[in-house]
Amino acid sequence: MTASRTRNETGAPPSPADPAARPWHELRLTPQEAAEAAALAVRCVQEYEDVESPEFLAEATVISHELPKRLRTFIATSRLDERAHALVLRGNAVDDALLGPTPAHWRNAVTSGSLPFSFLLALYASLLGDVFGWATQQDGRVVTDVLPIQGGEHSLVSSSSRQELGWHTEDAFSPHRADYVGLFSLRNPDRVATTLAGVPLDDLDDRTVDLLLQDRFLIRPDDSHLPVNNSTAQEGTREFEEIMKAVDRPAPVPILTGHRAAPWLRIDGDFSAPADGDEEAAAALKTLSELIDAGLYEVALDAGDVAFIDNRRAVHGRRSFQPRYDGRDRWLKRINVTRDLHRSREVRAAGHSRVLGQR
Ligand SMILES: [Fe+2]
Repeated sequence: MTASRTRNETGAPPSPADPAARPWHELRLTPQEAAEAAALAVRCVQEYEDVESPEFLAEATVISHELPKRLRTFIATSRLDERAHALVLRGNAVDDALLGPTPAHWRNAVTSGSLPFSFLLALYASLLGDVFGWATQQDGRVVTDVLPIQGGEHSLVSSSSRQELGWHTEDAFSPHRADYVGLFSLRNPDRVATTLAGVPLDDLDDRTVDLLLQDRFLIRPDDSHLPVNNSTAQEGTREFEEIMKAVDRPAPVPILTGHRAAPWLRIDGDFSAPADGDEEAAAALKTLSELIDAGLYEVALDAGDVAFIDNRRAVHGRRSFQPRYDGRDRWLKRINVTRDLHRSREVRAAGHSRVLGQR
């Protein structure tokens, strides 16, 4: 793969059909490898029952080293390529009949048919780092669900459908956001595309890069962290205090950080703004946003495909689609991964806790 460019010679977004131009790493499991991985996940279901079990999460990294060696080697080497937008594992075995229907809501999405895939996603993720969740998102689960919810077709969160999910880095507002966002596609009959784009560095002038590296931008939490999108949460409780503070009084941050020649990115197209009255920052943000729009490309995750999106190198989103609400809808399991859980200690109750904001 050649991940040094986000666009090809014609200036168009890279085509997933052209392997040489793909800005992501990809491995297709053999049927034997997929069967071995699935068997390991089933053993975990039998031993731990609940993917949120602290015992499982504590041991997941060690268990993940029982996954096929070619797969482990792929992840261990790919994670060091700072140019790649994502790591994609294709060819996991998903028996559509055994999976059962797509639930109508994430609250009802912890199903026996999907449980092995939740474990498998956590095992793959544990080859990249430490998995975690947010107290303010889907009731604090570590493994969350992406599926269309009736009534939310035009919302700004992942349960939307008819409205395109705009590009963003995951939880861009937070210093504790994930290094990778893992998505395990369980069902995607209409091949609804995930969208991706990297930092369009080749097309940014030096002055714009200078501005994007400065603390001149406000990034607010997306709506998935609001109490209205959680079932047990009450507005005003401690978990939500930090979120509401970030909504009301966000501190100015840079959009780009790290090495100037290979910068990291934090941005959310729907929730980012220049600091008040800062016209230079506004112009830089507009330039960057237009270039991301132009460079956005599509990757369809079919049933059995897993993507770990590099949340510091790439934005992601999802094209609009017509929901079915008949049990056949697109359904993905999602997980957050940090390279080092200790970095978020100030917002976790204990060193081993996996839930941010639960103090
Ligand atoms: Fe996202």
